[in-house]
Amino acid sequence: MTEQIEQHDVVDVIRAKRDRGELTDAQIDWVVDAYTRGVVADEQMSALAMAILMAGMTRAEIARWTAAMIASGERMDFSSLSRPTSDKHSTGGVGDKITLPLAPLVAVFGVAVPQLSGRGLGHTGGTLDKLESIPGWRADLGNEQMLAQLDEVGAVICAAGASLAPADKKLYALRDVTGTVEAIPLIASSIMSKKIAEGTGALVLDVKVGSGAFMKTREDATELARTMVDLGTDAGVRTVALLTDMSVPLGLTAGNALEVRESLEVLSGGGPRDVVDLTVALADEMTRAAGKDVGRDELRAALADGRAMDVWRRMIAAQGGDPDAALPTAVETETLTAGADGHVEHVDALAVGLAAWRLGAGRARKEDPVQAGAGVELHARPGDPVRRGDPLMTLHTDTPERFARAREALEGGVRISAAAPPTRPVVLDRITAQEA
Ligand code: URA
Repeated sequence: MTEQIEQHDVVDVIRAKRDRGELTDAQIDWVVDAYTRGVVADEQMSALAMAILMAGMTRAEIARWTAAMIASGERMDFSSLSRPTSDKHSTGGVGDKITLPLAPLVAVFGVAVPQLSGRGLGHTGGTLDKLESIPGWRADLGNEQMLAQLDEVGAVICAAGASLAPADKKLYALRDVTGTVEAIPLIASSIMSKKIAEGTGALVLDVKVGSGAFMKTREDATELARTMVDLGTDAGVRTVALLTDMSVPLGLTAGNALEVRESLEVLSGGGPRDVVDLTVALADEMTRAAGKDVGRDELRAALADGRAMDVWRRMIAAQGGDPDAALPTAVETETLTAGADGHVEHVDALAVGLAAWRLGAGRARKEDPVQAGAGVELHARPGDPVRRGDPLMTLHTDTPERFARAREALEGGVRISAAAPPTRPVVLDRITAQEA
């Protein structure tokens, strides 16, 4: 009998959203909980997710949906730490290795960085996949170990445990196979339920916009950023978002060990300008949100003088990794060259991300293995002068039969023009809390 009433209720909830109505708090609490417990079936939740994608949700509905997902699992508590906490979340992009230099850099200034990360799916790489290319490094830590590392080292990058927002895990997997990932209310509540449950005091969101990002237009990225900043602020987390360019890859590498190598260059005071600029811009936001007045000059100094590298070495060693071990390299490489003289006008992020993925750096299903050494290494970036025959990029893989499909992904992905293109800033906008 009870199950029959619940079946009836879920159809009412779906109809209400299908007809563009506002769901009540009770409906939201019930449907999220019932889905997590298996009382609401996958086909019913997929109908509701599609209705949400088509009809949207109000700010109050999104806040309640997020709270219901947080309530489905455990909340972490960092109140015993002697330092303030500040975290960063990126919506994902090609060559986005920023977490690697960023977490130790922020920790230099007495801010604890609890970075719960994921593995990559599709053309954007996962932070854990990158770090797992370091011999010995372990992603899985218990809560106690995580707290101890935050106290002793100040930064931890590890896998999110299964108990954090389990409703989201189930719903995200369903959205992935029902064409409903792109709903802004569902993306915002998915990301923010995990970040709020994680218990960070401050949060900086890096919302990517462009061909290599989830959000292809500035308008959609702004809406997603605003929605997430409002959710965090309403939940008592000091939250700010930067909108950043993902029409070109970040830095010169896309692929796990290749990106670790580039991060080490940044931690040694070098590295590509866009990676350094974004690392410093995000570190500036994270330290300010944690109440520390550090400033960009001092942050740059900590990259140049080895203080951030010292924290990196301790952070990697604390999780079993050998910071001095050689990183894996791919068995085979192939270099693509410029077809004309001129300037590189554009390098398309999605094309490079797809090529890296096809070379073996990413996975199609979450249980697939990744190749640590696979990926794409760029030799020229937009604005650089090139001559016909100059190397443009090197493809890396352990399985050379993958080269042809990677080259296909890159067709039309690099444009060369006579004149140098205008330089583009990496940070496009900054979004802060607004009144409810
Ligand atoms: N990342 C998430 O964690 N959830 C989404 O819905 C999209 C990206």
